[in-house]
Amino acid sequence: MNIGVFGTGYVGLVSAVCFADLGHSVVAVDKDHQVVAKLTAGEPTLYEPGLKEILTRNLDTSRLAFTTRAEEAVRRSEVLFLCVGTPPRSDGSSDPVQVEEVARSLAPLLDGHKLIVEKSTVPVNTARLLDRTLRWWAPLGCDYEVASNPEFLREGSAIHDFLHPDRIVIGADSDRARSLMLELYGDAFDCPKLITDVKTAELIKHASNAFLASKISFINMISNLCEELEVDVSVVAQGIGLDHRIGHHFLNAGLGFGGSCLPKDLQAFVRIAEDFGVDFSLLREVERINEGRVGRLLKKLERALWVVGGKTIGVLGVAFKPNTSDIRNAPSLQVLSRLKDAGAILNVYDPKAASSLEQIHPPNAHLHYAVSPYKAAENAHALVILTEWEEVTSLDLARIRSLMRSPIIVDGRNLFNPVEMRERGFEYYSLGRGDVTISEPHGRVKNPGMEA
Ligand code: UDX
Repeated sequence: MNIGVFGTGYVGLVSAVCFADLGHSVVAVDKDHQVVAKLTAGEPTLYEPGLKEILTRNLDTSRLAFTTRAEEAVRRSEVLFLCVGTPPRSDGSSDPVQVEEVARSLAPLLDGHKLIVEKSTVPVNTARLLDRTLRWWAPLGCDYEVASNPEFLREGSAIHDFLHPDRIVIGADSDRARSLMLELYGDAFDCPKLITDVKTAELIKHASNAFLASKISFINMISNLCEELEVDVSVVAQGIGLDHRIGHHFLNAGLGFGGSCLPKDLQAFVRIAEDFGVDFSLLREVERINEGRVGRLLKKLERALWVVGGKTIGVLGVAFKPNTSDIRNAPSLQVLSRLKDAGAILNVYDPKAASSLEQIHPPNAHLHYAVSPYKAAENAHALVILTEWEEVTSLDLARIRSLMRSPIIVDGRNLFNPVEMRERGFEYYSLGRGDVTISEPHGRVKNPGMEA
């Protein structure tokens, strides 16, 4: 089939390359000339495992093209995906301006039957408003329909998630739209395909993200209780998750959820419910619990260091989760700004996201960027773990201990076993397990580069 994709951000780019890989002919539109030039040259504009390969493979077969000209995509395509951003407004509600702008720009170009499909996360009832906008700007008597096909892609595994989904949700209000969407996905997927009306599909997307966020805040609340009871939250999570009705996913306690989706979608969903007269206080509590996570971690660091000002702190990970360079709404941003305000000297390491952070916070006397976790640990009074990168989970802990000025680790992702950490000579704090504190003075193993 011929497909047009509007917006080559995260969702648009991944959808475009994957639809092309399934054998469709895809033209993706972005108004940014530089982005289009880069993508046409086979250079991904964001980091995602497998993206470069799938991009170049499909450019080479000419099944995929990028353009700034909407008409190139509209005229030839049967299905047009809207994948532009829906950023939050200051009150947390979703700003529809980009979606409306694309609808207005493509409406006058409509000719023949077109299916216009929302893929961006939009508030329920957006399709109805889109339909009305298109009617205002499209040629009279023009034949089009609006459908919804929400994405459930996780950053860091988006290509895999697109090609191996748990389910495909298709919201369409006519037989024609439904069969076009089913033809598009073809036989390539053996997962359940849920066919609903458009409004239901829109709601499923926001409800899914709200539920995932709720699961995380739930386990984080349990983790607070675990700390008081000196019980290990990861074992509790295992015990809960073995119940198939609950499942073990999204029960990792720690610093809480960040990223460009969960925090934003949760806020927007609360506002949407309010608009319909429903007080979703449950989700406001989910947000509140999440907001408390950074403070809880920093309290442990403050307790361990006594005074944070003037102390050297190694920071491992700034991305909101591993395998991405994305730092949007990452808990690390709050951690770093609070440590900076407290006067700490920070040595930050992240294998992929350091340059994103450097653009906002250039290096200075209090902020250094380290080339490895070991460089970040050198002479540190404490190490703070914020992202569970493989480089961090597989640390050579003996080497780390030998490099640090004092072996204090404050772990926001519960990566290590507290008992083993004590045996290795660390003072180890995590979230939701008993903390390992050491009353005797810390012995440094060796650190040839530093005076005792
Ligand atoms: C999320 C949804 O999973 C995806 O379906 C949707 O399309 C977009 O939003 P993403 O933002 O890529 O995907 O990240 P995800 O893997 O869901 O993690 C979100 C945040 O929750 C991360 O900060 C992560 O560290 C945190 N998290 C996740 C936990 O704190 N505990 C967990 O058990 C799982």
